[in-house]
Amino acid sequence: MTTIRKPVSVGIIGWPVSHSRSPLIHNYWIAKYGLSGNYSRLPIDPADNFETKIRDLVDQDYQGANVTIPHKEAAFAVSDELDSMAQKLGAVNLLSFEAGKIIGRNTDGYGFMAHLEAAASRYFNSDFKKKPVCLLGAGGATRAILAALADHGFELIHLCNRTRARAEEIAHLGAPSQVNIFDWEHRDLALEDAGLLINTTSLGMAGGLALDICLKGLSDDAIVYDIIYTPLETDLLKQAKARELLALDGLGMLLHQAVPSFEVWFGVRPDVTSDLYDLLVADLVGV
Ligand code: ATR
Repeated sequence: MTTIRKPVSVGIIGWPVSHSRSPLIHNYWIAKYGLSGNYSRLPIDPADNFETKIRDLVDQDYQGANVTIPHKEAAFAVSDELDSMAQKLGAVNLLSFEAGKIIGRNTDGYGFMAHLEAAASRYFNSDFKKKPVCLLGAGGATRAILAALADHGFELIHLCNRTRARAEEIAHLGAPSQVNIFDWEHRDLALEDAGLLINTTSLGMAGGLALDICLKGLSDDAIVYDIIYTPLETDLLKQAKARELLALDGLGMLLHQAVPSFEVWFGVRPDVTSDLYDLLVADLVGV
């Protein structure tokens, strides 16, 4: 007898969520793997009771949801069980409703590292993780990336943020790596000899302020990673390419962080392919 799986209902919770590319990614995979389900936008007004809204989704037979700004901490609070990364970060971006329980996970750092490993595997020799990593920023994405770098054995992290106190607050997430904090005005020093520079600030985003930085001090075989994907090629990445360094944009992180979500809900581990990347790029044209 064949068992008929009921359609999977999932989506992205945030406020606003109209700009989210997650429906495009997940619905592409649903079609590609011939699955039955739908991934929709689930706006939740911060003025509403988050827990009630989540219980409503459970009652409506949803299997879970991704969570984005400003609800990642509320999703953490509502979870009955948490994976180690969500516990560490105090933030959840993946909810699954399993056997009456709400399970919270965090896949942001995974997305960054999976993209880096896929796009730059040839850089992953023993020396790479010994060189300093220069991490700019101190927001939610910085926290996830800092924890992922530490988990993956990067030995020395130079953390540099405009508001030094915010960098100090999150530095413990880099343990057991050594985290050195640099003042924002010393960012050119912070990247001295680094093998990896990561921008997690909002500087360089379309319509916003520019990131003023000089890449001269970077190691000759450094990777420059900008988590921004609007525009796809930020001025920072243009500068990196001009120095013939490997330049990686934020779309890869977005695609890779979606993989574990899809796998949890649908039981299929989807591939991040160039076709999907191109689909997103086409969708971003004109943004
Ligand atoms: P997230 O969305 O990842 O949680 P966020 O809290 O919005 O991030 O933070 C954006 C990052 O960009 C912060 O690191 C912020 O620096 P502060 O902590 O000092 O606010 C940084 N940022 C924003 N505008 C900046 C500017 N003009 N100069 C330098 N850094 C800036």
